[in-house]
Amino acid sequence: MVELRDNVMRLTLKREVDESYDIVFGYEMFPQIAGNLRSSPIGSRYAIITDSNVGPLYAEGLEESLRSEGLKADTFSFEAGEENKTLDSCESLVRALVRSGYGRDSAILALGGGVVGDAAGFVAAVYNRGIPYVQIPTTVLAQADSSVGGKTAVDTEYGKNLIGAFKQPERVYIDVATLRTLPERQYRAGLAETIKHGVIQDADFFRYLEENMHIVLQRSPESSLHIAKNNCRIKGNVVEIDPHEKSLRRILNYGHTVGHALERLSGYELFHGEAVSIGMMVAGRISNELGYFPEEDLECQERLLTAAGLPTKIPPSMTDGSIIAASSSDKKAKDSRVRYVLPVSIGRMHDFDGEYAGYVDDKVVIEALRRTRQ
Ligand code: NAD
Ligand code: GLY
Repeated sequence: MVELRDNVMRLTLKREVDESYDIVFGYEMFPQIAGNLRSSPIGSRYAIITDSNVGPLYAEGLEESLRSEGLKADTFSFEAGEENKTLDSCESLVRALVRSGYGRDSAILALGGGVVGDAAGFVAAVYNRGIPYVQIPTTVLAQADSSVGGKTAVDTEYGKNLIGAFKQPERVYIDVATLRTLPERQYRAGLAETIKHGVIQDADFFRYLEENMHIVLQRSPESSLHIAKNNCRIKGNVVEIDPHEKSLRRILNYGHTVGHALERLSGYELFHGEAVSIGMMVAGRISNELGYFPEEDLECQERLLTAAGLPTKIPPSMTDGSIIAASSSDKKAKDSRVRYVLPVSIGRMHDFDGEYAGYVDDKVVIEALRRTRQ
């Protein structure tokens, strides 16, 4: 009941929601996805949102599977690439959805990598004040990380992921068969978030990756499934505890403070995973400088990133000043001061009194940057 005291009226609006969902793993899953959406629908029409690389490879197959189950579906595509994860792309998608008569009873299927997942998820969060969506990730990175946890966002000239919303998907379908067509550099870049999961939470998974990187790089369905399941277990456990990144979820940002800065300073020439790989080396060294992360663990991390074919050195063209300035405009900064997420050993993070991110003196950061150039 609304309460009025003097000139203040109080609306009590408490919310308890169940946003649980299934992550379903498999190989060549389109018929299964369509069958599931027929038996447990989440909308009366399905808008497949994809990009200009993934669309030609997979959208028709998905659309056909949906139609053969009697479901209505259309495909909406935007130009591939991080530089197109923008409000402009989302606005074009929204216009196309409106013109095609998509209403509140429709749902979105995000078919693609992290760029598609983040942008399509954002459209789902705002279209008609929110419609349901499903993630169908097609890159290693998206199957490891971005399709799970409900972070959606677009980039702006001021920083990455500056505009977004938390919007959990209704379901996630991880079809590792889609990885067959992923370009080699993209495949390797995606392994950065996988290695990150080992460093932040799971030493056994890290050891598995150390021992099996040669098999992982062959993209066998068995290893791709093993990796996807472990990634989603590790990330899912963190998200269950802290869905809105009030504390523990910050550990998932390991390597991202500097990583996002490098990605942006490179004009997105560096892929997200590649930038995160270098960012993990900087954060690892900051932690080492502060006496938390032993040299031996730092070397293990660098060896594994290198074995995955990932860069571990800062491109010479980027100055310390530009990196520090770009980091401080990251949205993870507080009062314009950058906070870092730091490991204490492979599988464990420094908890900064339950905050999981802390301020570091610029001098320490500069020394870590210097050591990450040689
Ligand atoms: P991406 O979506 O740009 O995909 C990489 C490239 O591969 C693109 O050119 C794409 O068109 C192409 N591609 C995708 N799947 C393919 C396939 N199966 N076969 C052939 N080509 C394919 O990049 P990404 O690495 O998947 O994702 C990076 C994005 O994810 C960044 O924007 C990052 O900020 C975001 N991200 C979000 C979260 C989150 O929690 N929401 C987490 C990590 C990263
Ligand atoms: N990738 C960071 C997060 O999902 O929180």
